[in-house]
Amino acid sequence: MTPSWTFAVGRDDLGRTTVADGPAPELADGEALLRVDRVGITANNVTYAVLGETMRYWEFFPAGPRGLGAEWGLPPLWGFAEVVASTVRGVEPGQRVYGYLPPAGHLVVRPERVDAGGFRDGSVHRAELPSPYNAYRLTTGDAAYQAAREDLLILFRPLFFTSFMLADQVADNDFYGARTLVLSSASSKTAYAAAFELHGRGPRLVGLTSPGNVAFTESLGCYDTVLPYDRIVDLDLDPTVYLDLSGAPGVRAALRECLGDRLIRDIAVGLTTGIPNADAAGEVFFAPNQMRKRRRDWGRDGLDQRFADAWQRFAAVAAGWVDVHAGAGPEDLRQAWLEVLAGRTPPRVGHVVQL
Ligand SMILES: NC(=O)c1ccc[n+]([C@@H]2O[C@H](COP(=O)([O-])OP(=O)(O)OC[C@H]3O[C@@H](n4cnc5c(N)ncnc54)[C@H](OP(=O)(O)O)[C@@H]3O)[C@@H](O)[C@H]2O)c1
Repeated sequence: MTPSWTFAVGRDDLGRTTVADGPAPELADGEALLRVDRVGITANNVTYAVLGETMRYWEFFPAGPRGLGAEWGLPPLWGFAEVVASTVRGVEPGQRVYGYLPPAGHLVVRPERVDAGGFRDGSVHRAELPSPYNAYRLTTGDAAYQAAREDLLILFRPLFFTSFMLADQVADNDFYGARTLVLSSASSKTAYAAAFELHGRGPRLVGLTSPGNVAFTESLGCYDTVLPYDRIVDLDLDPTVYLDLSGAPGVRAALRECLGDRLIRDIAVGLTTGIPNADAAGEVFFAPNQMRKRRRDWGRDGLDQRFADAWQRFAAVAAGWVDVHAGAGPEDLRQAWLEVLAGRTPPRVGHVVQL
C-alpha cells in the first residue's frame, strides 16, 4: 500500500496541529486518485478555517474518513496535483491539474463533466458546496497556465480571480457613485490585485495597512495613497466605498466616524484579522455571483479569455512583487501554516510547499 499523510488543525484552536499517517486511499469505480504536489498558504487559507463552520469550508475535505476525530479540520489549499490512478476515461495518470486541495498526500475525486479543460469533482459530499471550488483544470487546457509561472498561479490564482471579479463588479456598478475606494489590508495579495485592476479607472484608490507595511504597499504603485490604520483622519471627505479585507472593527468604526454619510457602501471581502465582518459590513462580496453574471453576459469562454488576459498582465508585474519561499513536506507546510496564522509573514513573501 502507498503511504500517505494528512495535516489537520484544531477546529476550535487553529494553532493546534497534527499530521496523521495512513495508507493512500483505495479507488472505487468512477474515481481517480490525485497526488497533491505543490500548494500555497496565504491569509486566505486561514480565513477558510475561520469560516470553516459557517461557510462549510470544513466539509470539502472531511477529517473523519482520514481517521481523524471531529475536533480536527483540514484547511483547504490551492495548488497543483497529479493524477496517479484513474478508473475514468479522459482522466489519465500523469495529467496535472490545478484546483482546491486538502493539506494531505492524496485526494480521491469522482470526475464528472470531463473535457479537454479538466473535470469537476462530483463526490456526494461536495454536491451542495459552491461549485467554483469543485473544478479541476488540466494544465494542458488552461489559457492562464504557463509552466514557468506555476508558483504565481499557486499563490494568486483564486485571489486574483476574486480581485478581478470584485473590480469588475465595482466598475460594472459605476463605482456605486464613489470618488474614493478605500481598501483595508492593502498589503494583501487580494487587495493589491484588486487595486491593480481598478487603478486609473476613475475613483481614487486609498490603501489602509499596518504601519510596518506602508513602504511595501506604496512600492507597488497601484494605490494613489497609502495610509497606516491610525491615519484614517487624513482621508478626503469624498463619497467613499469601503472594501474591507481586514475585518478590524476599529478600522470600520474610525471610517464611519471620519466619513459619516459619505461612506456610501461598506463591503466585506476578507478578514485577515480573523474577525468575521459580514454582519458589521451589512454586505458581503461573493465572487461566484459576479462570475455567474459575466458568464451570462460574455459566455463561459468569453469570461475565461478575459480572465486569462487580465491574469497575464497581472502576473508579469506581480512576479516582481512576491518572494516565493519554497518549503518541502508536511513539516514545512505546518510551519508555513503557523507563520501565516500568526500574521508573521511579511507581505512580500509567498509560501509555497512541495509535498
Ligand atoms: N470574498 C472572497 O471570495 C475572497 C477571495 C479571496 C480572498 N479573500 C480574503 O482576502 C483576505 C486576504 O487574503 P490574501 O490571501 O490575499 O492575504 P495575504 O496576501 O496573505 O495577506 C497578508 C496581509 O494580511 C494582513 N494580515 C495577515 N495576517 C494577519 C493577522 N494575523 N492579523 C492581522 N492582519 C493580518 C496584513 O496586511 P495589513 O498589514 O495590510 O493589514 C498582511 O500583510 C483574506 O481574508 C481572504 O480570505 C476573500
